Amino acid sequence: MIRLRVFIAIIFLAIPYTKLFADAVSEPSSIILCQSCHGYQFQGNKDLNAPALAGLSQWYSYRQLLNYKNGIRGTNPEDILGQTMRLSILNISDAELNALAAYISKIASQKQEISIKGDVGTGKFVFEHCMSCHGEFGEGDKTIGAPRLTGQSDWYLYQQLINFQKGIRGQHPNDLYGRQMKDMADMFNDQMLKDVINYITVTNMSINDD
Ligand code: HEC
Ligand code: HEC
Repeated sequence: MIRLRVFIAIIFLAIPYTKLFADAVSEPSSIILCQSCHGYQFQGNKDLNAPALAGLSQWYSYRQLLNYKNGIRGTNPEDILGQTMRLSILNISDAELNALAAYISKIASQKQEISIKGDVGTGKFVFEHCMSCHGEFGEGDKTIGAPRLTGQSDWYLYQQLINFQKGIRGQHPNDLYGRQMKDMADMFNDQMLKDVINYITVTNMSINDD
């Protein structure tokens, strides 16, 4: 009986600390909002055009979240999906966004279905123009600021390349990273973009983050 009381006392003492700890590092409170579009395991949801986020680097996600919030991404009138995302996070504090980005980066990414067809041979050739920034295996490069491309769904990668080409993304004067990528997307025609995406997803070179 004494043992049980001691045990209960310890639990009661421990609760406030575990709660504090949980708030600080494990599950940010707005996670449910994100899951409603990006999927319970952050695997993405094609029906809602929401990309996979699981395993995306903290530095990249956080930069995008700030870009949306500060109107660097998701403000172009043609960018309906970017606007939806922007509105979803507009009232969330920077600290919470940072915590969300950290949390998401620790979730294991899942293999994505292939929905875009292309020529893998041409894709390999095109990918040689991507490696200097996105890494030899598409794993991303923090020093350059280029995100991981593997583990992402092909329809989202394609949609973003078209957004860059159209100037829906990467056109804002303060979007220094996006502008680099826009210049790259402009170099290739539609079929070549499909080819390179097919190469990235079919070969699935690496789903490890940096
Ligand atoms: C209403 C649906 C919706 C909600 C809620 C939502 N998102 Fe999104 N999110 C999207 C869509 C759609 C996109 C793609 C937008 C685009 O094309 O720019 C996106 C894009 C993103 C991106 C960019 C990914 C990349 O690879 O560039 C990040 C990061 C992100 N969301 C994080 C979050 C987080 C964190 C939350 C929760 C606080 C959240 N989202 C809530 C729909 C949503
Ligand atoms: C000069 C460096 C550079 C090269 C070369 C480059 N990229 Fe990028 N790419 C970037 C940067 C930086 C970003 C992040 C932009 C941002 O922060 O919005 C990016 C973003 C992207 C995105 C958006 C990913 C997401 O999750 O939203 C895609 C898709 C992409 N690149 C594909 C490619 C492909 C395919 C190639 C080769 C044809 C390529 N990139 C070549 C620097 C580069």
